Amino acid sequence: MSWAYLNNAFHKKEEVRISPYDRGFLFGDGVYEVIPSYAGKPFLYEEHISRLSKSLNEVSINKPEQWEHLKSIIEDLLKKNNFFNQIIYIQVTRGQEGIRSHTPDKLTSPTLFVESSELVTDLLLTSYKPPYINVGIEEDPRWSRCDIKAITLLGNVMTLDNMSDSGLEEVIFYKDGIITEGAKANIFLIFGEKIVTPPVSKNILSGITRNYFINLLSQNNFNIEEREVSINEIEEADEIWFTSSGKVLQMVQRINNKTLLEKDFKNTIGHKAIELFRQDVLV
Ligand code: PDD
Repeated sequence: MSWAYLNNAFHKKEEVRISPYDRGFLFGDGVYEVIPSYAGKPFLYEEHISRLSKSLNEVSINKPEQWEHLKSIIEDLLKKNNFFNQIIYIQVTRGQEGIRSHTPDKLTSPTLFVESSELVTDLLLTSYKPPYINVGIEEDPRWSRCDIKAITLLGNVMTLDNMSDSGLEEVIFYKDGIITEGAKANIFLIFGEKIVTPPVSKNILSGITRNYFINLLSQNNFNIEEREVSINEIEEADEIWFTSSGKVLQMVQRINNKTLLEKDFKNTIGHKAIELFRQDVLV
C-alpha cells in the first residue's frame, strides 16, 4: 500500500481527494518540487526546499501552514512508503476558493500535497547500463518564466507527447537560436575537454542536479563553463547530457535519429561524472 499526504493527513494513494475548486486544478496556480531519496535520505534536501521557497515567493503564494513540519512529514512518508530509493513530489497550490476567479483572494490557505514512489535507478548498481537516450530538437514553446518551478507544464507535456510518437525521450529546446534546456532536465554540452552549460535565466530552471554537477566537476578539476550555446553548436558537441533529480545524468545517443555518441561509454566525460556521483552517494 502506498501513501500520500494532503493538507493535514496521510491517505492511501487511491483514496486521496481534492476539490476541483482548488486553484491548482482550475488555473495550474501552484508550484512543485521533486526530491530524490537514496537509502532513506533525501538528497540535497536544503537546496530543494530553498528553491521551493523561492518559487512560492515569485508567485506570491504563502507558505503552507505545515511548512515548519515539512521535513518530518517527508520522513514519515518515506517510512510509510518504505522503498529503498524514492522520489518525493511536493506540490503547493494557492488553495481552494468557492468560485473560479482569475484574481486570487489573498486570504486563501495554500494546499500542500506530498507523495513519494519508488525511484528506479540502475546508476547506483555496480554494473549499470550506459544511460543513453534519443532526443529531438524544437523551438521552446514555453512561457517566459521557466525559472519558476510551476505546475503549469503544458508546453513541456505537448512536446514530450509529440516526441514519444517518434520514440524520443527528451528534447533540446532553443529560443532565438540559443539552447535553453530540456522539457524535464537541464542540458550540458561537451566540446573536447570543455563542459558547457547555459547560464541560469528566466528561460531555464536552476536545476539542483545541474548545480550539483557544476560544483562536483569543478572541485574535481574539470573544465566547466556557464555560457550561452547556439543551437548550431550541437553539430560540434562530442557529448550532450541531461541532468535532473529523477534520472541524475542521461547521455544523448541520437538526435532525431542521427548518432551523436560514437565513443565507448567508458571513455566519455559523462561516465566520469556519473562515477563521481556514485562515489558521493554510495558512501
Ligand atoms: N524536472 N528543467 C526542467 C524543465 C525540469 O522539469 C527539471 C526537473 C530540471 C532539472 O531540475 P532538477 O535537477 O532540480 O531536478 C530542469 C523534475 C524532475 C520533474 O518535473 O519531474
